[in-house]
Amino acid sequence: MNYELTRRAFLRQSATALAAGILLPNTLYAVTGSPRPVAASDRLNVALVGCRSMGWYDLSDIMKYPGTSCVALCDIDSGILSNRAAEAEKNWGKRPACYGDYRRILERDDVDIIIIGTPDHWHCKIAVDACSAGKDVYVEKPLANSIAECDAMVAAAQRYGRVVQVGQQQRSANLWHSMKEYIDSGALGHIGRVNVWANFTYAAILNPAMDGPVPKGVDFDMWLGPAPKRSFNASRFHGSWRMFWDYGGGLLTDWGVHLLDMALWGMNVKDMPQRVMAAGGNYVYPNNFAETFDTLSVTYQFPQFLIQWSNMTIESGPYGRNYGLEFKGTNGTLIANRESWEVIPEAGKLEAKLVKPSNNDHLDHTNNFMECVKRRDMQTACPITNGSFCAKYAHIGNIAARTHEMLTYDDAKHTFHNKAADHFITPSYRNPWKL
Ligand SMILES: NC(=O)c1ccc[n+]([C@@H]2O[C@H](COP(=O)([O-])OP(=O)(O)OC[C@H]3O[C@@H](n4cnc5c(N)ncnc54)[C@H](O)[C@@H]3O)[C@@H](O)[C@H]2O)c1
Repeated sequence: MNYELTRRAFLRQSATALAAGILLPNTLYAVTGSPRPVAASDRLNVALVGCRSMGWYDLSDIMKYPGTSCVALCDIDSGILSNRAAEAEKNWGKRPACYGDYRRILERDDVDIIIIGTPDHWHCKIAVDACSAGKDVYVEKPLANSIAECDAMVAAAQRYGRVVQVGQQQRSANLWHSMKEYIDSGALGHIGRVNVWANFTYAAILNPAMDGPVPKGVDFDMWLGPAPKRSFNASRFHGSWRMFWDYGGGLLTDWGVHLLDMALWGMNVKDMPQRVMAAGGNYVYPNNFAETFDTLSVTYQFPQFLIQWSNMTIESGPYGRNYGLEFKGTNGTLIANRESWEVIPEAGKLEAKLVKPSNNDHLDHTNNFMECVKRRDMQTACPITNGSFCAKYAHIGNIAARTHEMLTYDDAKHTFHNKAADHFITPSYRNPWKL
């Protein structure tokens, strides 16, 4: 690979290679790698769509990569947009152009990268449009709000040869890599079950609120986008949208993609589970305004083990951790969350172990993305195929709970062979938006 090629020529070349079906090498970037210096002529221009919370955090770390400029911001809330533009000017010395419609940004030739920090129901449309406009994409997790949208996004990234990083930053954490190595060593013996839990109350306990007028400066129709038309309700809007099916999937998609990713990776799972069984409801707060479940259990069955998901709106949890994973092996139990992983031996069969994090996973994740955009010969730390895989696991769990059916998803044929469950695979987009 000739690294002296100009960046734009290189982007064109890679896109052509991928469109022609030529596979570029698949090297996983060393997560601790530090960014290379860049020539002034080789800057990368980035634009953020969805500026309120996580998208801004993503942009702030991406801007730490040498040679990066923030040229545009987009949000449907003009108050958030102008505050973030002022903050961008203060932080990085230049006020980015501001937009209320992301499609105007995609028309700009000088934008290389789109960061998607919108609610989940928008990820697919913006990402597919960005890929087809020749932009590389950093898209927040979960990859999409439905199974069919995940497939559409993977197809678009491959068709247009784009670099995509999914915001599952645990994939760039030394902590989780060392956990994976330990599990792969076989020290835990046979692992018969992995328990995964997330007990959080944020945005989960919502008091019933009346619909009301759209706040000044908010383009609510654009916020709804492909989701069904409805009147404005503050409890279904910024931040709390994740607890309503049209926009998100509750804790199973919000935290589930991070934690199930570690369970599936740890157990080397590459396919859909044999069976999924689930049950959920709003049992802790029966008057909860949220549609998603404040109490949910999902069992994913495999030939030799189970992976079990559980979420609750009561914040205590096993081992004093309100979220985490537990790999139960014949020689010992490994417990993990973002603060540490540790091993509790089974009757003296192993050494006890405690490992703490040793890097800034989010910064390394954004650096890894930028390196991949520059080089175009290596796979991102969380490629779109992995984002899709984990998001499908989360959606299948929710679908099993919503249909009260035991399900098997046939990923090749895109069906559960079950009419009630198949109904949830593809959302119907509201006109004029098309999937
Ligand atoms: N990786 C992580 O650890 C992590 C953490 C938190 C959130 N997230 C993900 O980040 C995404 C955003 O979550 P959040 O908590 O920041 O949500 P948020 O509601 O706080 O912010 C979303 C922003 O997107 C804007 N927006 C909505 N539709 C838009 C559109 N069509 N065009 C432009 N702007 C639009 C909103 O006005 C708002 O400013 C979600 O997908 C969420 O799952 C990831």
